[in-house]
Amino acid sequence: MILSIESSCDDSSIAVTEIATKKLLFHKKISQELDHAKYGGVVPELAARLHATALPKILEQTESFFPQLKAIAVTNAPGLAVTLVEGVTVAKALSVALDLPLIGVNHLHGHIYSLFLEKESAFPMTILLVSGGHTQVIDARGYKDFSLIAQTMDDSFGESFDKVAKMLGLGYPGGPIVEAYAKKGDANRFAFTVPLANSGKIAFSYSGLKNQVRLQIEALGTLSDQDRYDICASFQLVAVAHLLQKLKKIFKTASIRDFAIVGGASANLYLREKIEALCEEFGARLYLAPLAYCSDNAAMIGRCGVEGYLRGDFTPMEELVSSPKSAL
Ligand code: KG4
Ligand code: ZN
Repeated sequence: MILSIESSCDDSSIAVTEIATKKLLFHKKISQELDHAKYGGVVPELAARLHATALPKILEQTESFFPQLKAIAVTNAPGLAVTLVEGVTVAKALSVALDLPLIGVNHLHGHIYSLFLEKESAFPMTILLVSGGHTQVIDARGYKDFSLIAQTMDDSFGESFDKVAKMLGLGYPGGPIVEAYAKKGDANRFAFTVPLANSGKIAFSYSGLKNQVRLQIEALGTLSDQDRYDICASFQLVAVAHLLQKLKKIFKTASIRDFAIVGGASANLYLREKIEALCEEFGARLYLAPLAYCSDNAAMIGRCGVEGYLRGDFTPMEELVSSPKSAL
């Protein structure tokens, strides 16, 4: 079995995965969303302090698995520097105490492996990763064999939902709230323009759209509930339309048979619906992670860790450092 730890942002999570069957034997996550909600975003120092109490609390519950563990997998990049180090330190202490090798897991690889929980991996695949920190289209060919097809030039897709929610005073994380508000709104009331619509560039940009929303909020002055619903609906329509326009260009130039969406924002049902239609149009199969494992969790880190273990891809203790910025 492999014990895995995730603490790259505001979720403290630990999982135990059986190596031979890929079965998830234990998974627990303590989210800090409520603690950060009043600040409208994650406060890194507060997140680190909360990990320091939450991780040991979850770890205690995994003690019965200790004799059967073969390795410790831990997210070491990318993420918040002060929170990554909390998980990495717990992993190192466990590695010393139980005499087990370490496997450093890239958080983005973890999101990709959320597609393969309790099953075999299936590559090649083209993957859209939409989270709070990233918006990328990835050519995924196999374990650690990933390359970027497109990425955002500024804000990420999930981050833009967080920022719109913050501007509307709706709390954090913004994604689920904006999606729920959008359901009650008129998506055609505000005509926000689709970013990079007239550019041939295969890239994403969300900072301009965020500014359009800000200006609209300022122009309205006092907001009614209906104004908020309509802003969320109009924003979500354009945020997703932007992804779809660029994805369509990618589908037209490459022959994609297998496509997937991963990351926290892949839980957005409106986005899922639109991507389903896109895949149908191009005759591609669509793969999705279970809704409960789209946002950050240790199960996906453990699933990726199993692949590392099977390949003997261990990380020496002195090389296991947390790096906030890290490529795919
Ligand atoms: O993958 P994740 O849990 O953390 C990162 O690695 O960043 O993703 C969190 C992000 C947040 O920005 C959150 O607002 C967004 O995913 N998100 C959503 C939805 N659920 C979560 N964005 C849009 N619609 C949603 N339903
Ligand atoms: Zn994530």
